[in-house]
Amino acid sequence: ADINLQEIHDFMISIARRAGEMITSAHPTTLAAGSKKNSADLVTETDQAVEKLVSTSLREKYPDFAFMGEETYKPGDALTAAPTFICDPIDGTNNFVHRYPYVSISLGLAIDRVPTVGVVYNPFTDVLYTGIKGQGSFVHQAGQKHQLPLSPPTKMEDLSSCLVAVEWGSDRSGNDFAVKSKTFSNLAATKEQGGGMVHGLRSFGSAALNLCGVATGGLDVYWEAGCWAWDVCAGWVILKEAGGVIADANPGNWEPKVDGRRYLAVRGGEGQNDIVKELWGLVEGAFEVG
Ligand code: IPD
Repeated sequence: ADINLQEIHDFMISIARRAGEMITSAHPTTLAAGSKKNSADLVTETDQAVEKLVSTSLREKYPDFAFMGEETYKPGDALTAAPTFICDPIDGTNNFVHRYPYVSISLGLAIDRVPTVGVVYNPFTDVLYTGIKGQGSFVHQAGQKHQLPLSPPTKMEDLSSCLVAVEWGSDRSGNDFAVKSKTFSNLAATKEQGGGMVHGLRSFGSAALNLCGVATGGLDVYWEAGCWAWDVCAGWVILKEAGGVIADANPGNWEPKVDGRRYLAVRGGEGQNDIVKELWGLVEGAFEVG
């Protein structure tokens, strides 16, 4: 059957807004939050309640579509070619429990394993990012809708003119810690020390919002090791539609079961390829950007 992407997109937005009301009316505390693998991998009742709302609403309207969500994912669950909603009910749970308003609901649709519709909504700032593959991406803010990127992209001369987002994430043991530390210091180090001497490194705490930040053009680059499909699916569409590139270290295998999940995003604009090449070697993971 024909899939009406516009209708799905509009429905996803209405769900994201309803989820947003749940998120802003909750009163989480750092103490009430439970942890999954370790003290930095948090989950709250709100994460679970929001995922339930989202999955129930989507299944009711699109019973033939698959659903994958952060809170109900089980190791071994694989992403198939079927149309699949991929949801992170609260991306930035750490921020949420600290009441730091950099939090989003990230809702994507993948078809044939390709991110196709993306909706990322920060209910605290009421900023909504949306995109449909082939149809551009937009930010909706203060009653206005703007196409992304927000202004004609300036040329990126080299990494030393870039604002770069990175995240520690919650995997910090053994090699994970080494890979991240190495990449962060490589990016920050001076050219004389063999580094990128970027303008600044930022860690805001939501993968989905970081991707949207690169889509707007405010951030030039985002790198992270350890994201999951629900962290990146929606932002992937929004970024690509804004002229950005995103690569995973295991091209085409971005489903949750793959180890060594590493993502690199670079905004649109002249110099994009050179920045990708310069990043090669400074960030861990072999990236080929098509
Ligand atoms: C996390 C956030 C964080 C990123 C992690 C994600 P969650 O999502 O996006 O910024 O570093 O990799 O898992 O756990 O808050 O939904």
